[in-house]
Amino acid sequence: MRLGHLMHHNPNPGTAGLTIDHGRSYDVFGAVLFGGRRGRVYRRLAELSGARPGDRVLDIGCGTGYLTRRLASVAATVVGLDPSAAVLERARRITVEPNCTYAVGVAESLTAEDDSFDVVANCLMLHHLPEDLRATALREMRRVLRPGGRLLIGEFRPPANPIGRHLVGALTGPAMEHNPIHLLEPMIADSGFGQITSGDLHPWIRYVTAIKPDTVG
Ligand SMILES: C[S@@+](CC[C@H](N)C(=O)[O-])C[C@H]1O[C@@H](n2cnc3c(N)ncnc32)[C@H](O)[C@@H]1O
Repeated sequence: MRLGHLMHHNPNPGTAGLTIDHGRSYDVFGAVLFGGRRGRVYRRLAELSGARPGDRVLDIGCGTGYLTRRLASVAATVVGLDPSAAVLERARRITVEPNCTYAVGVAESLTAEDDSFDVVANCLMLHHLPEDLRATALREMRRVLRPGGRLLIGEFRPPANPIGRHLVGALTGPAMEHNPIHLLEPMIADSGFGQITSGDLHPWIRYVTAIKPDTVG
């Protein structure tokens, strides 16, 4: 049995995405996977999001709220969204930051109004969606961002060496083993974002930032 099976619940009636129900196991897995560097990587992601005091931030596929809470330390308010009510229960239980709230929701069909957030972030979420929903989700992220608002995506960067990749596949499944991170930037550009930047955080994370143009052509 793969480790992923201990954390995932599938299918979820609200989405074709692969949801996580066992938040505690997920956090233990995260701590092991990042080898003590999870906090540092996620604090850096919060910085890279460009969120500032006064900003309204949306964290999509928030899981247990690990990124949500770090975003809360740099922004005014953060809403963490996830289809899994079970994982949100843990997020609410372990969150003490008063400016974090959580709600059930799916990336491919956001209920938020157009232009309603200054920053939209997500980490390790896109590879949980079937490939055909990823572009839809990115267009939804653009829709709910205000013009000039900022997108931050963190995704799993599979190991370059084949043995490491196979090990990731054996532990977690094909979505992480074959995560097509080289497609992130073109997909984000095709979804109407500009000023795209990207880089690697160690271990495992490829990040991309982008801006919703003031006027969309
Ligand atoms: C690997 S976890 C990442 C959690 C958190 N962002 C982090 O970095 O620790 C992926 C999350 O995406 C959620 N997810 C699955 N399908 C989704 C969808 N359609 N929309 C939004 N989130 C989804 C899962 O329930 C899970 O909590």
